[in-house]
Amino acid sequence: MEYMGNEKFWNNKFENRKDSPLNPEKALIENIMYFKKGSVLDIACGDGRNTLFLLKNGFKVTGVDFSIKAIERLKIFAKRANYLVDTKLIDLSDLNALSEVGVFDNILINHYRLSKDQLNVITSHISDGGILFICGFGHKHKVDSKIRKDDLIKPDDFEDINKFFELVKYAENEDDRGFFVTYIFRKIKK
Ligand SMILES: C[S@@+](CC[C@H](N)C(=O)[O-])C[C@H]1O[C@@H](n2cnc3c(N)ncnc32)[C@H](O)[C@@H]1O
Repeated sequence: MEYMGNEKFWNNKFENRKDSPLNPEKALIENIMYFKKGSVLDIACGDGRNTLFLLKNGFKVTGVDFSIKAIERLKIFAKRANYLVDTKLIDLSDLNALSEVGVFDNILINHYRLSKDQLNVITSHISDGGILFICGFGHKHKVDSKIRKDDLIKPDDFEDINKFFELVKYAENEDDRGFFVTYIFRKIKK
């Protein structure tokens, strides 16, 4: 799966990027007000364009990714801006990888598609009333050699977690990169 790629693919990609972060995701900027005050776990954070935006907005952020080059860059960018960031180098395909990370007020998953099993594990790391924010290529995105059918977020990805989360907002957007969906869920208090 090239969009997800392997570690080597992503290390190579981050190594060859210019020495500054990309802009944060538009959907995150537009919907930041839905986040609960406090902590955020940024899943597959890359070199941290969204982590940095969340830090700037006063959140305590932990970024996790399996690319050492991405994490190194995030640490440099955070240091430059005088932000304290927590990072963890983990492979999310290992379902136990997050067992030690704790519980967060919010989880951000931007441009990384999780399996239902991974979603089940990850959502157990959100506190009651906390937010799960997911944004990425959606079911109507045109597939090609880079973005495959398996990479697309589909409504039934959330069948299992619907029992524990209420949908606060769903949005579809299209720009020159393609068709995007944004899901904002809130964990229901038990
Ligand atoms: C398309 S990028 C998205 C990065 C970031 N979320 C953003 O919106 O800019 C996908 C990210 O997933 C990471 N990744 C891919 N497979 C992974 C895995 N199995 N475990 C951890 N991170 C992974 C890559 O290193 C890369 O940083």
